[in-house]
Amino acid sequence: MPATCVVGLQWGDEAKGKIVDLLTEQHDIVVRYQGGANAGHTVVTGGQTYKLSLIPSGIFRPHVQCVVAGGVVLNPASLLAEIDALSARGVYVGKNLMLSDRAHVIFPWHLEEDRLLNDQCSEGEAIGTTMRGIGPCYRDKVGRSLAVRLGDLYRDNFRSRIEQITEAKRRMLAGFGGDGPAFRLDAAEIAADYARYAERLRPYVADTTAYLLDAVEAQKRVLFEGAQGSLLDVDHGTFPFVTSSNSSAGGVWSGSGVPGRYVTKVIGIAKAYTTRVGGGPFPTEQDNETGAHIRQRGNEYGTVTRRPRRCGWFDAVAVRYAARLSGVDVLAVMLLDVLSRLPELKICVAYELNGRRITQFPSHVDDLRRVTPVYETVPGWQTEIAHVRRVEDLPPAARAYLDRIAALAARPVEIVSVGADREQTILAGR
Ligand code: IMP
Repeated sequence: MPATCVVGLQWGDEAKGKIVDLLTEQHDIVVRYQGGANAGHTVVTGGQTYKLSLIPSGIFRPHVQCVVAGGVVLNPASLLAEIDALSARGVYVGKNLMLSDRAHVIFPWHLEEDRLLNDQCSEGEAIGTTMRGIGPCYRDKVGRSLAVRLGDLYRDNFRSRIEQITEAKRRMLAGFGGDGPAFRLDAAEIAADYARYAERLRPYVADTTAYLLDAVEAQKRVLFEGAQGSLLDVDHGTFPFVTSSNSSAGGVWSGSGVPGRYVTKVIGIAKAYTTRVGGGPFPTEQDNETGAHIRQRGNEYGTVTRRPRRCGWFDAVAVRYAARLSGVDVLAVMLLDVLSRLPELKICVAYELNGRRITQFPSHVDDLRRVTPVYETVPGWQTEIAHVRRVEDLPPAARAYLDRIAALAARPVEIVSVGADREQTILAGR
């Protein structure tokens, strides 16, 4: 039985949640394998709108087991708030949610480190993180000495460990100008808070690696839900303007423990244009009326932070790179309706760097900053398409636009989305 992976091909916010929600019905298990509460997606179901950060959207279907795997970093307070908000609205959250005991835990010092170090990794430009402590928690995971995993919260030495780490963190933060009067690190208080969280989370905590390996070996249908996008991948994205996990499909194996060979289909999600939130180069950015138009029509504001997203034309160089990197089989093109009524559209088909035309995505952020996009201009379509349900009913210019994207990314477009509603989906592969 195949496992499927849904992964973003741009800088996040590709509307992956909608596709995951559609596919969930055909799966037994939905897995978040990386990232944390920096992600946010909106699910519209039964006429209700829900905002999720960490809990997979499979939570709305009782037969689906939701798994937050070991590659995720988890803030217990915000996770409990998410569970409480769902429960208050009548959504069952019980045995259908499983949290890996290997997941690393976010503490107050991580939030403070995020605040202090966000603008110190690149001259003149901040990463623009979501301030959820994601990077600092992953740093401690890799550094090991000051890390705490979910399973550690249930060990006898938990309190002494918190005291030891608090002491070290206090010294470190002071070195960065933090830990002032506005920020206190009280080991006893933190240990008491986290002991309370741990008690509440206890029913969900499990060895999810063993569970998932059993599941794939038993031919269960597993859906891996990527957070952020491939261009934010810590190893292969636009470093240092990235998140701190492997947000390409590469993260499935390390983050969940399930070997990549079980994943038989990778669906790459891309918007019909490009957005980015936070700092870092963005070759096709339109910091002008076109960008403002896309932002307004596409409601391009961050789900987690409400920051306005930077908007621009579709970048086929970036998407092709991301699709290759994540081993994408088919594409889902989202928010096509947002481009309706623009007289003409541009697609970036190559970059110019140092007077040379290239189609390879530069590995260094300074080069990406210096590229000039080479655009192909294509006609727009002057009608609304939100009601269209079949590819053949799309205006010819919209079909030509999709065909061009597919050709440039060297993958077929299987799904086209023309609105937020589940219904507003065109299955182009049929
Ligand atoms: P962090 O993940 O909070 O450390 O943020 C690092 C970079 O990734 C920043 O540019 C964020 O704006 C971006 N980022 C993190 N999560 C998301 C997401 O879910 N969507 C879009 N961008 C994100």
